[in-house]
Amino acid sequence: MPKPTPISATPLSPAPISKWMIETTDLTRTFKSRGARVAAVKGIDLRVGAGEIFGFLGPNGAGKTTTLRMLATLIPPTSGEAIVASVDLRRNPQEVRRRIGYVPQGGSTDPAETGRGELVLQGRLYGMSASEARARAAEVLAMLDLEAAADRVTGSYSGGMRRRLDVGLGIVHRPTVLFLDEPTTGLDPQARARMWQEIDALREQGTTVFLTTHYLEEADALCDRLAIIDNGRIVAEGTSDQLKDAVAGDVVTIGVNGSGPRVLTLVEAQPYVREASYADDTGLVRLYVDRGDQAIPHLLRLLDSAGFAPTSIALNKPSLDDVFLRQTGRSLRDEAAAA
Ligand SMILES: Nc1ncnc2c1ncn2[C@@H]1O[C@H](COP(=O)(O)OP(=O)(O)O)[C@@H](O)[C@H]1O
Ligand SMILES: [Mg+2]
Repeated sequence: MPKPTPISATPLSPAPISKWMIETTDLTRTFKSRGARVAAVKGIDLRVGAGEIFGFLGPNGAGKTTTLRMLATLIPPTSGEAIVASVDLRRNPQEVRRRIGYVPQGGSTDPAETGRGELVLQGRLYGMSASEARARAAEVLAMLDLEAAADRVTGSYSGGMRRRLDVGLGIVHRPTVLFLDEPTTGLDPQARARMWQEIDALREQGTTVFLTTHYLEEADALCDRLAIIDNGRIVAEGTSDQLKDAVAGDVVTIGVNGSGPRVLTLVEAQPYVREASYADDTGLVRLYVDRGDQAIPHLLRLLDSAGFAPTSIALNKPSLDDVFLRQTGRSLRDEAAAA
């Protein structure tokens, strides 16, 4: 009979120091640029669970890339603590680097190299043998459905294919945590949907994905949980539903056909309207009420008796843009369109 294996007195791997895959405490980064100090990230507390797709949603300049670059060990924090892939970022950045993948905002493929060539090179960079790197490249190409284009130079790829290859470069070494900086910016809707599938498949395989985006739909559709960042600070964190529920009540939008400011003044005076705004570009008056089903008939009578003929009236549950609007007083949709 074989001898039972003795139970080791010391655990094989150290106990995880956090139940979170990523945890930050008061993480801060200040840049000095031409004598001026730019506080890019102003004390961020974040928790990302293992196997989650976590979204970092915010407008341009909010501090998303700076946070990601700190967590990916590319720039040191000015102050604060972080645990990334169960490793202390400040004490052991080398180990963090081994456990993570990072896909930068603009990507970094060489237009004169083939997709396969890029992946093999990346594998070699991570210490794989030539045959290991070739085998892993073939696996990644199949996973991201890039086999047909594998031996073409990346300069001939579509934007969506190039971005998938960027993701491939980030996962060659099978990281536990993958950081994706704006993975779908500039992609057409079809390529974006495709990328969402690939990111979902990575989660299925157990990878924790931390991505940044300024697309509300992306954060809503793809992410298990998200944090909204504005001006270096987190203004909301939770599941999309939790964040929307926190904006209590219903949203009523009224198409007003040129008489926006006057309609706004009228509805704002109603006691059941908690907040209202008018956007010139959309021609919509938007208001928050506790009970939309009760407010709408009343609003219709009110507009009619004041001589306004609305072109449309709609009742909606709050969107992530309402969450952003509530927290910052600005619309993320407008800022993204202006960028
Ligand atoms: N290397 C740098 N030097 C000086 N300022 C910087 C640097 N990198 C970023 N910033 C500033 O920090 C702020 C946040 O930038 P960033 O993290 O790139 O935002 P986001 O990715 O959300 O668009 C911006 O005001 C930006 O101009
Ligand atoms: Mg950025």
